[in-house]
This record gives sequence, C-alpha cells and structure tokens, in this order.
Amino acid sequence: MRIYYLSTNGKAAPWLAALREALPGAEVMEWQAGAPPGDHAVVWAPPQQFFDEQPQLRGIFNTGAGVDALLGRQLPPKAVLVRLEDAGMSVQMAEYVCHAVVRHFREFDRIEEDVAQRRWAYRRPNERDDFPVGVMGLGVLGTRVAQALAHFEFPVLGWSRSPREVPGVRCFSGGAGFDDFLRATRMLVCLLPLTPATENIMNRDTLGKLRPGGYVINVARGAHLVDEDLLALLDEGHLAGATLDVFRTEPLPPQHPFWQHPRISVTPHTSARTLRHETVAQIARKIQALERGESIAGVVDRLRGY
Ligand code: NAP
Ligand code: GLV
Repeated sequence: MRIYYLSTNGKAAPWLAALREALPGAEVMEWQAGAPPGDHAVVWAPPQQFFDEQPQLRGIFNTGAGVDALLGRQLPPKAVLVRLEDAGMSVQMAEYVCHAVVRHFREFDRIEEDVAQRRWAYRRPNERDDFPVGVMGLGVLGTRVAQALAHFEFPVLGWSRSPREVPGVRCFSGGAGFDDFLRATRMLVCLLPLTPATENIMNRDTLGKLRPGGYVINVARGAHLVDEDLLALLDEGHLAGATLDVFRTEPLPPQHPFWQHPRISVTPHTSARTLRHETVAQIARKIQALERGESIAGVVDRLRGY
C-alpha cells in the first residue's frame, strides 16, 4: 500500500515519520510530480495536478475538519473523501469560544483599559440571561462548544440543518427555525461548514436580526461573513463587537480594516489547530479499516458539501 502526504505547511518530515510509525506495512512518501500511483493520500490543500495524476486513489484524508478547499477541486470519482473528526480540535474550539464569550460578557477589555490608567473601577455585573449565545452548526465542534458554554450557565441556543438534541441547549433547525434562532441570540458563534448553502450566511439581514448589542464570533470560514455588513452594523451600533479567527483572504491583508478596528479582535486562524499525534492516529485507524473492507465515519457527502 502506498500513501502520499502533501501539505502546504512545509513540515513534511515529522508527518511522514508519524505516518510510517502508525502504518508500518505501508510505503509512505511525499508526493512529487510524476510519482507512481498511490492508494491513499493525506492532504491539506493539494494542487489539482496531484489529483489529475492520481485518478486511482481510494482514500483522500483531509488533515482538517473543513473540506471546502478540496471540494473546489476535481477529485478522483471513486475515492472516499474523509474529514478529520475532532482529533483534539473540539477542546481547543471550546476554550477559544468560551474565552471570547467570557471576555465580552465580563468586559475584560474595559477592565484592561482601566488598569492601564491605574483606575480601580467597579462595573455593574452583566446578567447572563441578557447574553444568550447561539451556535450555528451542531456538529462535532459546535456541540462541544455549546455544551462548554452551557457549563458557564449562559442561555445556549443551537442551529443545525437537521433536528438535533443537545442537553442544556435550545435547538433549532433548518430554514424554518433560523429566524427564531437569530432573534433569540445575542452572541453568535459560527461553526458551520462552508458550502453553497452557508456562504455569506452572516450578512446585514441575518446579523440585523440578532438582539441589540449583538456580538459575532467566527471560527468557521471567512466566506461565511460579509465583511462590509459586519463593519456597517458595528458603525451603526447594532453590533457591539466581533472576534474573528478566519477570513476571506488568509493571511488577512495588511490594509484590511479588521486589523485596526477597535471592536474587532483578530486571531490568525488558530482557534483549533491540527494536532499531529491525534490526527495521524485517527487517519491510520481509518486507512486500516478501509483496507479490511470496513466502513468508516467522517466520510464527506460531496453533494451536501460536508
Ligand atoms: P460537522 O461535524 O460536519 O458539523 C457541521 C454542522 O453544521 C452540523 O450540525 C450540520 O447540520 C450543520 N450544517 C451544515 N450545513 C448547514 C446548513 N445549511 N444549515 C444549518 N446547519 C448546517 O463539522 P465540524 O467538525 O463541527 O466543523 C465545522 C467547521 O468548523 C468546519 O467545516 C471548518 O470550516 C471549521 N473549523 C475551523 C477551524 C479553525 O481553526 N478556525 C478548525 C476546525 C474546523 P447537521 O447536524 O444537520 O448535519
Ligand atoms: C481548520 O480550519 C479545519 O478545518 O480543520
């Protein structure tokens, strides 16, 4: 069995070593143009040329949860496309989102400003009931995030394509439930996959339905958010702020207004990093299962887009 590893991160050596250790019977190598046919590929954002040269591939394993970049390629028709399921990302995402929510709710930015001025200032505590958090996407990551927020006793709402039940979370689904979900939400978290149905989903119309003083946390993909609409709603005072980890163009261009905006916090696509050990272990288990003819979880429905 031959397995190719390809990534844009420029750090192939430790990944190749980890894959060889986890799959001792396999020939694991970095792909080069003109290389012989492989059986499986472990990839992040590979060039189209790779798929054009490897039409016989049986498995394509993405080293991330979101497969939007891969679905933009022409993939070998028979290969299963497999995404990462958690692999250490859900706890990171829960940390990141809880941090952003608590930072805003407890007004830690204002406290920092006071402290910088050596001002010993008390503020009236905010009421949790005035800060309901709505999580769009109740999959592997969204569910973990929603449950973590519920532990802090925020009112938590969730929205998914099909109906879900998550303890401690008021769940809505589909187009029919979207308006009610938005109108009941003050702090909106995006954990949707990027698909034709979810692109630009955070826009003037939808963000305008959030409760006054709304707050946006985007940890999914930059193209979920219409940048100009966020800026306009911040300027108009309908939204109070945003924490953004993902952007339409990454790295975020130096001239982009998000960098300097006083009510936007920017992080460099770092809310949930791919962890090599967990990722290789999960992918190796799935390759072995496929080789035994077993079915595996995490296979992407190419029509649905996630
Ligand atoms: P997942 O398990 O596939 O969950 C996706 C959720 O979104 C599901 O609940 C799904 O509904 C819902 N959904 C999909 N399309 C929808 C639609 N049109 N309307 C309403 N709900 C819809 O995905 P995941 O593993 O949680 O990951 C989510 C996304 O997070 C990834 O796709 C990726 O873009 C992003 N991500 C970002 C980072 C980062 O570092 N910033 C790291 C990892 C992942 P159903 O439950 O009905 O299927
Ligand atoms: C990162 O953004 C991922 O999709 O895993």
